[in-house]
Amino acid sequence: MQAIVLVGGEGTRLRPLTYSVPKPMVPLLDRPFMEHVLLRLRDAGIAEVILAAGYLPEAIQRHFGDGREIGLRLHYVVEEVPLGTAGALKNVESLITGAFFVFNGDVLTSLDLGAMREFHRSKGGIGTLHLTPVEDPTAFGCVEHDGEGCVARFVEKPRAHEVTTNLINAGTYLLEREVLAAIPAGRNVSIERETFPTLIAANGRKLFAYATGDYWIDIGKPENYLKANVDILQGNIPLHTVGTTAPHVPVKSPSFVGLGSSVEGRAEVGPNTVLGRNCRVSSGARVSGSVLWDDVSVDRDAVIEGAILAGGVHVGAGAHIGRGAVVGHGEEIAPGVVIPAGARVPTPA
Ligand code: GTP
Repeated sequence: MQAIVLVGGEGTRLRPLTYSVPKPMVPLLDRPFMEHVLLRLRDAGIAEVILAAGYLPEAIQRHFGDGREIGLRLHYVVEEVPLGTAGALKNVESLITGAFFVFNGDVLTSLDLGAMREFHRSKGGIGTLHLTPVEDPTAFGCVEHDGEGCVARFVEKPRAHEVTTNLINAGTYLLEREVLAAIPAGRNVSIERETFPTLIAANGRKLFAYATGDYWIDIGKPENYLKANVDILQGNIPLHTVGTTAPHVPVKSPSFVGLGSSVEGRAEVGPNTVLGRNCRVSSGARVSGSVLWDDVSVDRDAVIEGAILAGGVHVGAGAHIGRGAVVGHGEEIAPGVVIPAGARVPTPA
């Protein structure tokens, strides 16, 4: 079976992290987020994946190549201008031979793809959409379905009094090839706003809703990206692709330390902390609930709480980085500086 993974977005909500790295390549513990996703597809029996790319595609291509090393056949199709979540599918139509999976390239889930395929076959619809329940659906695309499980209506970001369901579009679809005929070519088309509503309105085969309570998170916002790392550390999502933490580094568990990283004796690292490769945390510094990418150095007595630091960041002695702060690639945080909670450095344009 074939799959298309949508990886063309600019990831504006993750800025400044996505200035240097496209969203699919942000690390989750020891490897890019997309590697976790692709290994999951391979383990579900998918052999061929088309990556519909656009923003910083070289970084993705350089890491995965033709996919042989991870047991997949990978194709890259790069959009010169963003074609949207349905336009991207139309753009790869010539590579598609039958029913196919589509994945938003920013979703981490334990959804059982084999079970979804069985459901799709048993219903015989033109497509099946994975839905997931959320506590507050007002920030999401909600999907209503009828008693038979047919998708009835999409409601984008309903206001509190308009909420009729807590089930949202979870960004995994299984579609018959004929869906592609319903997508106009050569322009930006949104699958949620245009294609699915068109299919519902048509008198043809139905779209079905497949709601499950599996682990699900969209890593496209800093707080969710941080939570996904912590959820993996805490064993809340079954990933069997996580490497081993570097030995003999004193950290409070659960934490993950990449190869080549060091923590000095009087430093305190963890819990719920990820250090990438070749990081250095000096004596007296404290790092907790945070994700530090490769080559980050933290000088004496600095404090980092609940923050995300991209590769090569240098935190000067005694600096303080507050909860929810996000620091972009290679930034220098001067000694003693306080980065307030929720700040982004540099501030995205
Ligand atoms: P934000 O800018 O932070 O909203 O992120 P985003 O650009 O990734 O947009 P969004 O999260 O809504 O996109 C959902 C998924 O679709 C992501 O995996 C994107 O990479 C992908 N995507 C969005 N727009 C396009 C597009 O025009 N072309 C392709 N190929 N993929 C897209």
